[in-house]
Amino acid sequence: MKLQEAIESRKTFAIISHPDAGKTTLTEKFLLFGGAIQTAGAVKSNKIKKTATSDFMEIERQRGISVATSVMGFNYKGMQVNILDTPGHKDFAEDTYRTLTAVDSVILVVDCVKGVEEQTERLMEVCRMRNTPVIIFVNKMDREGKDPFELLDELEGKLNIKTRPLSWPIGIGDSFQGVFNLYEKNINLFSANKTKVAQNIVAIKSLDDSKLQEVIGDEAADTLREEVEMVEGVYDEFNEEPYQEGDLAPVFFGSALNNFGVKELLETFVSIAPVPLSRKTDVREIEPTEPKFTGFVFKIHANLDPKHRDRIAFLRVCSGTFKRNHFFHHVRLDKNIKFANPSSFMASEKSTIEEAYPGDVIGLYDTGNFKIGDTLSEGEVINFKGIPSFSPEIFKEVENRDPMKTKQLEKGIRQLTDEGVAQLFIQELGNKKIIGTVGELQFDVIQYRLEHEYGAKCDFRPVKYFKACWITTDNQSKLDEFVRIKSTDMVKDKDGNWVFLAPSKWILDLEQQNFPELNFHFTSEFKRDAVAQ
Ligand code: G4P
Repeated sequence: MKLQEAIESRKTFAIISHPDAGKTTLTEKFLLFGGAIQTAGAVKSNKIKKTATSDFMEIERQRGISVATSVMGFNYKGMQVNILDTPGHKDFAEDTYRTLTAVDSVILVVDCVKGVEEQTERLMEVCRMRNTPVIIFVNKMDREGKDPFELLDELEGKLNIKTRPLSWPIGIGDSFQGVFNLYEKNINLFSANKTKVAQNIVAIKSLDDSKLQEVIGDEAADTLREEVEMVEGVYDEFNEEPYQEGDLAPVFFGSALNNFGVKELLETFVSIAPVPLSRKTDVREIEPTEPKFTGFVFKIHANLDPKHRDRIAFLRVCSGTFKRNHFFHHVRLDKNIKFANPSSFMASEKSTIEEAYPGDVIGLYDTGNFKIGDTLSEGEVINFKGIPSFSPEIFKEVENRDPMKTKQLEKGIRQLTDEGVAQLFIQELGNKKIIGTVGELQFDVIQYRLEHEYGAKCDFRPVKYFKACWITTDNQSKLDEFVRIKSTDMVKDKDGNWVFLAPSKWILDLEQQNFPELNFHFTSEFKRDAVAQ
C-alpha cells in the first residue's frame, strides 16, 4: 500500500469516559458496525473493580483483559479505524493519559443522568493540553436524565470547550422517541434493540413536514420545533476547523446499549475526525508522510505468565513504514533492533504483521529494552514529546523485607517503573526510594508483582507529600542553595532530574515565593521542551 493512501485511510482514536458512562458498550457497538465482531457481549469490560484489593490474581486477570482489548481495529467505509482502549479505573489514570498521546482524536462519553463527572473533567484537561479534537456522545438517553440544554451548558462550563449539537433528542427517558439529525434533517426512531444494528430512519424534508406529527405526535413535534429553533439560534453553524483545533466539540445524543444514535456518531466521526497528524519531537516536527519510519512507545504491558518475563511494548507509528525483521534505531539505547513478531490487533485477535503505517499501533515483544516514551527511527536522533509524567498523588517509601533480595528488589522496581506502573523517586541523602502513584491499587499490583516475578518482598510506608515538582532553572547557585536547604525533600526521578516533594500546598507556595529563580513544574514534560530550546 502506498504511504499516502494508508495515511488518508486511518483514524486512530480513544473512547474516554468516567467509569460506567458506557465506554465499553459504545466500543462494542462500533465493532458491530465495523463487522469486527458479530454479536454484542464479545468485548469484555476492562474495568478494574476494587471489590477485593487483596485478590491480586483478580487484579491481574482484569489487567489481562485490558491487554487483549488494548487496540481494536476495524474497517468502516474504506477507513481503517483504530480504537485504543483506556482503563476506566481512576487508579490507572496515568495509563489513560499516556494512551491519549498516541491518538489523533477522542470520543468522550457522558452519562445523561450524571452529567460531567470527576474523571470526565480530568481526561478532558489532558485533551485540552494537547488540543485533541473531541466529539461528545451523551449516552443513556433512555433514562430520565438532565435537560439537554442544561447538559450542554454543563459540558461547556466544566470542560472548558465550546459545544455544537449535531443531533437532538426527541424526549428523554420513558418519553425518548429518537433523535433528529440536525445535519441531514431526518429522524431516527428509537426502538430498544440491543443486538441488531438496524435502524428505523424516517426522512422528513423539514420540521414543518406533516409527517413529523404523524411519526412522533403533536406535542413532541411542537417541542422539537421549538428546541431546534433554539439550537439554531444559540449555536453557530458547525465548522470543522475549530473541531480539528480542539476548540469545539460536536455533540450527539443516544443510547449505546440500545444501539441508538451510534451510527450517526460513527459516520460523522469517520468523515470529520483527523487522519494521522504530525508529531513534535525535541528536534523537529515529524510529518506522517515522511518516507522514513519513526514511532514511539506509549504503553508497556507485562506478560501475565510469571515464567515468561517478556513484555509487550505498544508503539504508535508516526511516519514512514514499519517493517517486520528490519533493523530500526532505538534512540535512547543507541542500538539497532529488529522485530521478528510485531503484532497488530483486530478486535481482540492478535496477528503478526509485515508492515504498519502512521496511525497504527503495534505490539512489540520486549525483553527489557523499552521504557515508556522511547523512540524508534531509521537512524535519526529524535525524541517524541508529549509523553509526560504527572505529579503523583500518593507517595510511599519502599522498605525491603528481605535484605538477601536487594538486587531483585532494585531490578523489579526499576522495570516496573519503566513500564509506567508507578514513578520512582530516589532521595539523594540516604538513598531512600519513594514510589509515587495516582491510586492505591498500584501499590497492591507492585507488591504482588515484585514477589511473584522478581522474588522480592517489600513493605510500603506512607509518606505525606502533597505534590512532586520538577525543578528547572538557569541559576545553578540558587538550585544548589535550594537543594541544600530542602535536602530531605529533594529527590531525583529515574532520569536523574531534580524533583522537590512538597510536604504541603502552603510550603510549596512559600518556596515558590522564596525562590522566584526556580521553575516548579507539575509534569515532567518540560524536560523534552528544555532539550528543544
Ligand atoms: P464503561 O465501560 O464506561 O465503564 O461502561 P459500560 O459500557 O460497561 O456501561 C456501564 C453500564 O451502563 C452497564 O450496565 C451498561 O449496560 C449500561 N449502559 C451502557 N449504555 C447504556 C444506555 O444507553 N442505556 C442504559 N440504560 N444503560 C446503558 P451494568 O449493569 O453495569 O453492566 P451489564 O451487566 O449491563 O454489562
